[in-house]
Amino acid sequence: MNIYKPDLMDVLEVNQHTADIKSVKIAFKDKSKQQDFAFRVGQFGIFSAFGYGESTFNICSSSTWKDYAEFCFRRTGKVTEALWRIEPGDTIGFRGPYGNHYPTDEWEGKNLIFIGGGIAMPPIRCAIWYALENREKYGRITIVYGARTVGDLVYRDELDKWAGYKDVKVIRCVDPGGETPDWDGEVGFVPAVLEKASVPADNSVALVIGPPIMIKFSLPVLSKMGLADKDIYTSLENRMKCGVGKCGRCNAGPVYVCKEGPVFNLEQLKRLPEDY
Ligand SMILES: Cc1cc2nc3c(=O)[nH]c(=O)nc-3n(C[C@H](O)[C@H](O)[C@H](O)COP(=O)(O)OP(=O)(O)OC[C@H]3O[C@@H](n4cnc5c(N)ncnc54)[C@H](O)[C@@H]3O)c2cc1C
Ligand code: FES
Repeated sequence: MNIYKPDLMDVLEVNQHTADIKSVKIAFKDKSKQQDFAFRVGQFGIFSAFGYGESTFNICSSSTWKDYAEFCFRRTGKVTEALWRIEPGDTIGFRGPYGNHYPTDEWEGKNLIFIGGGIAMPPIRCAIWYALENREKYGRITIVYGARTVGDLVYRDELDKWAGYKDVKVIRCVDPGGETPDWDGEVGFVPAVLEKASVPADNSVALVIGPPIMIKFSLPVLSKMGLADKDIYTSLENRMKCGVGKCGRCNAGPVYVCKEGPVFNLEQLKRLPEDY
């Protein structure tokens, strides 16, 4: 078996969220593969635009959805430019699922705090839907999601849906200057909004994904709220090539992020070299 050979996927639906972010629903051309496909939230795939190359994206649908998988991407370069042009009915390639996953079993019985910035909503969204579809296993859910401007928020319709669930609090924010006249969310940077929100942190775990600066300033807030390092999770986005531990492209010191990550808790991250 060739581990680099992608599966062929039908593009079912494409949705544009912002000026440079789209999400895509895909299903295996081989129907039996679609039925057998299993992954855990937090894992990623390697998606190919034929003739252009491969890119790594989180699988942002919940693992409980069986008819399709979804990914969401920002147009940044060669492959994502090509993916930007795909339409329903087109074919793309997929390898995966790869990497470890969010420890949703260990999180059972806990309150969940999800903190995301910008394009980081998709990797959190899969975990939010998973928790909502297994509602009885988890306590309170708090979602803090920020973007530069109102127009940069992704999955906006779902933010409103989540807020309708029992014991779910959704705090939306945009950077100062990014609000519109009808904006009814917070204005401020994610760490400051998190601090101001006085989110109860008893018996809680947090998943924080976003730009490095947002993560950097959110971590001390979470610690001050009383969360232990082992209860604060994030996902690393090191550049990847093979995705399966062969090429050495993704390493963080001695750790292959594609195999041992991308999900790490803060206790594990503190054991990696300084710049991680
Ligand atoms: C585990 C993992 C999960 C990811 N999940 C998502 C996701 O859900 N949605 C999404 O939009 N992106 C995600 N990324 C980042 C995504 O893989 C890159 O943005 C993409 O591969 C760029 O491809 P390109 O050919 O279009 O751009 P390139 O032409 O290769 O590069 C264009 C720009 O993107 C930057 N870039 C390239 N690779 C990365 C990377 N790995 N991380 C950050 N910046 C990069 C380059 O430095 C350059 O500035 C993820 C990366 C990893 C490793
Ligand atoms: S991406 Fe090749 S070893 Fe991790």
